[in-house]
Amino acid sequence: MSHTSNPVFARIAGTGSYLPQQVLSNDDLVKRGVETSDEWITSRTGIRQRHIAAEGELTSDLALQASLRALEAAGVAAEDIDLIVVGTTTPDLIFPSTATILQHKLGVAGCMAFDVNAACSGFIYALTVADKFIRSGAAGTVLVVGAETLTRMLDWNDRNTCVLFGDGAGAVVLKADHETGILSTHMHADGGKKDLLWNPVGVSAGFKVDEHNAGVRVQMAGNDVFKYAVKALDSVVDEALVANGLDKSALDWLVPHQANLRIIEATARRLDMPMERVIVTVDRHGNTSSGSVPLALDEAVRSGKVQHGQLLLLEAFGGGFAWGSVLLRY
Ligand code: COA
Repeated sequence: MSHTSNPVFARIAGTGSYLPQQVLSNDDLVKRGVETSDEWITSRTGIRQRHIAAEGELTSDLALQASLRALEAAGVAAEDIDLIVVGTTTPDLIFPSTATILQHKLGVAGCMAFDVNAACSGFIYALTVADKFIRSGAAGTVLVVGAETLTRMLDWNDRNTCVLFGDGAGAVVLKADHETGILSTHMHADGGKKDLLWNPVGVSAGFKVDEHNAGVRVQMAGNDVFKYAVKALDSVVDEALVANGLDKSALDWLVPHQANLRIIEATARRLDMPMERVIVTVDRHGNTSSGSVPLALDEAVRSGKVQHGQLLLLEAFGGGFAWGSVLLRY
């Protein structure tokens, strides 16, 4: 790519998403023997159902479908991609990266490809990294994906966690543009909160499980996570507005991480945004971790809600803790 004196923005040229076929309703969970109810899950989280990846359907498979749709929407051929960044905390394998597996499934080779693991903030982190590559001139066309098969690491006997998550993927194609695009990115992390939301097994820590563990599973102190998430998201949306010298009334859409409707409503209140200007998919998708923001964005674009030139604030919060925002003109 040639460098010019004009500022280079990373503009979203196309979006895509994919949800596995199998749908699990709250009542289905009850039928599976989970001690819960549709009333409890709906009133505490806003979730009514989630999608579950089929046996043998991997994170890279979900990523591939979302990517093909994003590439088609952008009118970009896979050969033209300079960089693939996949946000995921449920990679197909320990290595190689899901991004390289996706690259091969897209039928190309040679371009840069790597994963970013920032738990539920994976897509926001991946988008931020991609933005930096474009702004620096190191890449002109980037495929950014958030893809997860989080249900693979749930303990279906743990009602505190198993009702919350689902599988899915979303993708965007970013292109260098002199007019407009991503205006700012802000990322944060606090590793001191590791034990509040985590999966405590791994390569270096070892795969053995202690006497309390049924297996490789997500563990969460829901109440603490809830409180911290609301505070962190309040502060990160304020930070984005201040950095851009914008009043909250300038925002057209909030595209939040879809973990819990009450968390989303709290952020909307902070921004004085009516829920009509907030993209909500958590009711149908559950929390798809890195998949949630690009899934919501794609739905908003394809339904015609989000229009060219509008100002969008994307945000996410998750394990680490890691959180962040992206402000962009679509
Ligand atoms: N069905 C029925 N009852 C359940 C339940 C379920 N699925 N899960 C928990 N309960 C019970 C608890 O055991 C507790 O019972 P007790 O009072 O007898 O001890 C009661 O419901 C209240 O639990 P509590 O954890 O205080 O509920 P809450 O209002 O905080 O809601 C969450 C729980 C998980 C929905 C909420 O804390 C949350 O959404 N946290 C953030 C989670 C999140 O977003 N994580 C991902 C971030 S990326």
